[in-house]
Amino acid sequence: MDAIVVRRGESSPEIAELPRPDPGPGEVLVRTLRVGVDGTDREVLAGSHGGFPPGEDRLVLGHEAVGVVAEANGTTFEEGDVVAPTVRGPPAAGTDASAADTNEYFARGEPDMAPPDACVERGIDGAHGFMAEYFTSPAEYLVPVPDDLTEWGFLLEPASIAEKALEHASASRSAFDWEPESALVLGNGSLGLLTLAMLDAREYDRLYCLGRRDRPDPTIDFVEALGATYLDSRRTPVPEIPDAHEPMDLVYEATGHAKHAVECVDALAPNGVAALLGVPDSWTFEVDGGHFHEELVMTNKALVGSVNSNVSHFEAAIETLGELPKRLLADLVTGVYGLDEFEAAFGDDTQAGSASDESQSRHDETAIKTAVQLSGT
Ligand code: NAP
Ligand code: BGC
Ligand code: ZN
Repeated sequence: MDAIVVRRGESSPEIAELPRPDPGPGEVLVRTLRVGVDGTDREVLAGSHGGFPPGEDRLVLGHEAVGVVAEANGTTFEEGDVVAPTVRGPPAAGTDASAADTNEYFARGEPDMAPPDACVERGIDGAHGFMAEYFTSPAEYLVPVPDDLTEWGFLLEPASIAEKALEHASASRSAFDWEPESALVLGNGSLGLLTLAMLDAREYDRLYCLGRRDRPDPTIDFVEALGATYLDSRRTPVPEIPDAHEPMDLVYEATGHAKHAVECVDALAPNGVAALLGVPDSWTFEVDGGHFHEELVMTNKALVGSVNSNVSHFEAAIETLGELPKRLLADLVTGVYGLDEFEAAFGDDTQAGSASDESQSRHDETAIKTAVQLSGT
């Protein structure tokens, strides 16, 4: 079967011919329909995040997938069921971290809370992903997808990421009467814009999204079509947003720009919360630590980091995506490419530089969300 891989030492994806996998006990064989591409895939290609499976020199890419059960293999699934896989698994047998007592997270159904050395991430870190004509998965890591979401099922993984972060952010505000009205999304990449649409469905009164692009640009059009306000970080740095617009009840960081993790505290209204999702490169810069500390304490602000998601977040994402207008999803997904043109799904500048460098862009700027179509329904 065909698979899209990155080889050690390379930074562009390529097609490899691999044997079709056989499902082991408790595993399901899935025929892959569609796999999405996000900023993390570009980080994996650039070699700045993730890694290869132990002892291997290539990694099958892709962690945002939807597929059809091809062999249920005695599990509760039936052939023809549409499913979306979660991303994390326990480390390979024989490694220290695979010992039962370090895998309490998986036993509890909370792999998203496992520290990095107690898990692998398919298509990202230490395990092959889903960008192949077939993949196998333990049945408990597969989420059934309703028929009307088959086409958009590859968006469930990124939507589940947002569900988890928003759940943890609101949980941090659950000890008092928190009624958020304003939200700011930092980042106009595919995660930021999908989250903006999800926040719009939650009926925030006022939404903002920060980018660093000039018009005309499809991401700015998407922001404005939602009725949200586009902010440009080159003109309005994050700490100046409250004076230029308003202080925010919620900030959702999806740039990977490390300064934003600190600066977002100044964009918050008293009692607000910021969820940090970006995966930054190492970057040393100066911070007024006294101001940062005082602001968090004296105005009851919270900062929440959030990574990955579990089955419950996929289920919440099914509800949320099911209610979003399909027209909105169609505007977000600007390109779905077959195996014969898969490079287009990764954009044409996959070797560009770090997110900490404001002069660099890692995007094909005509695209928002892209995917590879591995087979038809
Ligand atoms: P992406 O497509 O690379 O989007 C990042 C966006 O942020 C880009 O549109 C970029 O603008 C913008 N940006 C970067 N620096 C900026 C700045 N200084 N001012 C304004 N805008 C800036 O990535 P993504 O897929 O949306 O993901 C966003 C981040 O979340 C990435 O770091 C990714 O690794 C991370 N992520 C984390 C999780 C998790 O579980 N925590 C899950 C998925 C993704 P340009 O396009 O103009 O360069
Ligand atoms: C994926 C998550 C993963 C995170 C960190 C994201 O792009 O969607 O599942 O945990 O990257 O590697
Ligand atoms: Zn992702």
